[in-house]
Amino acid sequence: MANKNLNQAKSAKKDEFYTQLVDIENELRHYREHFRGKTVLCNCDDPRVSNFFHYFSYNFEQLGLKKLITTCYKNQERDLFSQHDSERAIWLEYTGDHNGNRIPDPNEIGINYLQGDGDFRSAECIELLKQADIVVTNPPFSLFREYVAQLIRYNKKFIIIGHQNAIKYKEIFPLIMNNKMWLGYGFKGGAGHFISNYEDIATASDHRKGMIRVSGVNWFTNIEIAKRHEELVLYKTYNAEEYPRYDTFDAINVEKTADIPMDYDGVMGVPITFMDKYNPSQFAIVGVMNHGCDSEYDLAKPLLRGKELYTRILIQRRQYQIKRETLPIAAEQ
Ligand SMILES: C[S@@+](CC[C@H](N)C(=O)[O-])C[C@H]1O[C@@H](n2cnc3c(N)ncnc32)[C@H](O)[C@@H]1O
Repeated sequence: MANKNLNQAKSAKKDEFYTQLVDIENELRHYREHFRGKTVLCNCDDPRVSNFFHYFSYNFEQLGLKKLITTCYKNQERDLFSQHDSERAIWLEYTGDHNGNRIPDPNEIGINYLQGDGDFRSAECIELLKQADIVVTNPPFSLFREYVAQLIRYNKKFIIIGHQNAIKYKEIFPLIMNNKMWLGYGFKGGAGHFISNYEDIATASDHRKGMIRVSGVNWFTNIEIAKRHEELVLYKTYNAEEYPRYDTFDAINVEKTADIPMDYDGVMGVPITFMDKYNPSQFAIVGVMNHGCDSEYDLAKPLLRGKELYTRILIQRRQYQIKRETLPIAAEQ
């Protein structure tokens, strides 16, 4: 159901759904020490309505920020759901509370006009990006690849929301595999409710007024977090019956992350949700099985007894890791 919401959003490029303050607070509390003395940029955020702007401006002193910059895309109307009917956009700059009331007052926030529409790829927005130490936002899902590529190009730290399916994108997977980007703490139950006026097709128990529920959303970051170093506790042992080999690649299939056998020394295919539990000291990522041809890391189609499975991440226990060059070659497909 919720995935249908996301697919609809993607196909229609419906990027207008807004992050709740509580979700921002829940994630960012794990990164507090990283913000001291830093300039934060929220570059897909209408500052008048963005909860990212709200969070950083109200927590400015507590986090010890140096500066907060926020840019919005096109819309200058005080309407939450951008119509993109104005070509000029604004950007805001906040350097903290000056009158001692610990609240970001309007006269303390510098409002500036952008020449263009506030596209994060525009030259003037890139100039603002260059000033930033950490970028934090929920960017348009339809431009996620380009958005991440730009952050990497400018060597920025980031904490951003995206969909877990992005892990398998050929532009994103190499970053995940090479530990240049990983998943944050995430949303409760792997799904988020976002403020939106799109039609919500979540089941009644999941429906919240004025929101859409999107399953599979997560936070992506390149900032160190404790979660990334937690060991996944394994309890199962390998047996050939429960862990069959793929038709196309010499690795065993593991249905659920919790079922990863603790004593298997070869390559294992696990569901994409494994990335939420990935600890690089415990496991090495050796590739992905998606179409078998997306990139040099896409090693085979995930075929099991003639049936095509969902994308698999290929992993190996770090202690048994073998060099990629010596991996078994995929059988002909
Ligand atoms: C998923 S919404 C999230 C909005 C806000 N960051 C939040 O979390 O509440 C993505 C936002 O990116 C904006 N956007 C779309 N294309 C953009 C672009 N090329 N440059 C900057 N922002 C863009 C959309 O207008 C939309 O408001």
